[in-house]
Amino acid sequence: MDAIIRKLQTLKKQALAEYSHFHVAAILVTREGQEISGFNIESSSYSLTICAERVALFKALSEGYREFKEIYIMSDDERPCPPCGACRQVLLDYAPDIQVVMVGASGEMQKVPLRDLLPYAFDKQRLIR
Ligand code: THU
Repeated sequence: MDAIIRKLQTLKKQALAEYSHFHVAAILVTREGQEISGFNIESSSYSLTICAERVALFKALSEGYREFKEIYIMSDDERPCPPCGACRQVLLDYAPDIQVVMVGASGEMQKVPLRDLLPYAFDKQRLIR
């Protein structure tokens, strides 16, 4: 089995998801091939929860990485797990050309460019007047 699938399966078990019990893992791959991992971290004040994808992205940004090739996402579901709308927006802000690889719990993969997941997107160009 693909090494990345095993990494996602292991990582997902560490998710801090005691409220939803929905475990998600994300691995962000930088231009240099560095893998930055994340899992969802939930809060007792539910809305403060942060998704696996944004944990991985914010970790990477705070470590100085600025260019990204791919993000792999896996949940407990056999169906490949798509990123939520909030994560799509933040990914677009920092990694507009990234490929999103949605992975099912047993390894089924679906790869889609982020831009296809967020048509008619709001982006920083809109802020320029
Ligand atoms: N979640 C993610 O981590 N990524 C997604 O793309 C979808 C949702 C998390 C947030 C919350 O902890 C749990 O899954 C249920 O929504």
